[in-house]
Amino acid sequence: MPQLFPKKANTLPVLSLVGALLGGVLLVVLVWYYFSPEFTTVGYQPDQPVPYSHELHVDKLGMDCQYCHTNVANSKHANIPPTQTCMNCHNQIQTESPNLLKVRESWAEDEPIQWTKVNHLPDYAHFSHAAHVDKGVGCETCHGRIDKMGAEGVYQAEPLSMGWCLECHRQPELYLRPDDQITAMGYTQPANFVERNLGRIRDENIQPPTNCSACHY
Ligand code: HEC
Ligand code: HEC
Ligand code: HEC
Ligand code: HEC
Ligand code: HEC
Repeated sequence: MPQLFPKKANTLPVLSLVGALLGGVLLVVLVWYYFSPEFTTVGYQPDQPVPYSHELHVDKLGMDCQYCHTNVANSKHANIPPTQTCMNCHNQIQTESPNLLKVRESWAEDEPIQWTKVNHLPDYAHFSHAAHVDKGVGCETCHGRIDKMGAEGVYQAEPLSMGWCLECHRQPELYLRPDDQITAMGYTQPANFVERNLGRIRDENIQPPTNCSACHY
């Protein structure tokens, strides 16, 4: 067979081929990891250990989000309530219900209920609930109609992707709502919505960051 290239030159294309393959594998792994459903799928709705219904507790019983998610306005993390919160009522209501068996067990054994996380950002993206909730971004804007989510559990309502974050950071006037409407569901915008928001943005000097290091550090 005639040699097209001198022998020594062969190592170079082989190396770059190996490099390309490894790079390809790495890329696939990264894409698989970061774009796996937990991170990007709208509609992701994992099974939960207890058929807890927001529709029942929020819409029918009229409970406010902050009765259970007590940290949203003063912490980075929105907390899932401890079993104690459930037992405030369920030590007297539906005390025999099989749907609440895991809650009673958790209480008796002093072991937290293992809820499965629904909304999830990768570790390299930083997010604070307080920073948003205290400046007029409502739960509904990011989590959808939680008050319509029943015993089958909460699902991810928005992409939570970088593009999605930035869409609002570039034009917050299209989204902010009055402070007393933060936890309201089914909020309807008044006619002068955008002007009011532009006024608030000026008065409170609201400037959502778009520089990389604000979210990645
Ligand atoms: C009675 C307590 C209670 C109230 C009131 C309540 N929640 Fe929840 N919430 C829970 C529990 C328990 C979970 C975990 C189970 C689940 O994800 O379905 C949860 C889960 C969530 C999740 C998903 C968390 C994740 O893993 O990503 C969001 C978002 C949420 N709640 C928002 C709200 C909003 C918005 C309101 C008010 C409109 C509200 N909740 C009212 C108890 C409550
Ligand atoms: C403020 C009181 C209150 C709190 C706090 C509360 N619940 Fe409830 N819950 C109720 C009421 C009232 C019902 C409806 C009872 C009925 O239909 O007879 C109910 C019903 C339920 C049911 C359905 C039971 C069945 O068999 O139909 C589940 C499951 C449930 N709650 C889970 C929870 C969990 C989990 C928590 C804590 C995160 C919680 N609840 C906190 C008042 C409460
Ligand atoms: C600007 C968008 C935004 C707003 C506004 C917002 N959230 Fe979230 N929420 C998120 C994101 C993003 C996550 C996932 C965070 C993570 O993985 O670090 C999340 C996670 C959660 C969780 C799960 C926390 C956990 O540790 O499992 C709960 C509960 C929650 N939010 C409740 C609320 C409630 C209640 C409100 C309104 C008072 C609210 N959120 C407002 C974007 C938002
Ligand atoms: C609907 C509008 C909206 C969405 C969606 C949104 N933000 Fe924001 N963000 C804001 C506003 C308003 C502020 C407050 C700016 C200020 O205080 O000047 C803010 C502030 C911030 C800050 C600076 C405050 C701090 O915590 O240091 C970071 C970081 C941030 N957002 C990250 C995110 C990330 C990550 C996402 C997507 C997962 C996101 N935001 C989605 C409106 C939004
Ligand atoms: C407002 C917050 C915010 C800002 C500002 C921001 N990012 Fe991101 N970025 C995110 C979030 C949230 C994710 C995770 C997206 C996901 O899970 O799909 C992300 C993901 C990424 C990724 C992973 C690949 C991808 O697209 O999912 C890279 C790379 C990245 N950002 C680079 C940058 C660079 C470079 C800048 C500056 C030009 C920047 N980011 C500014 C929030 C932000």
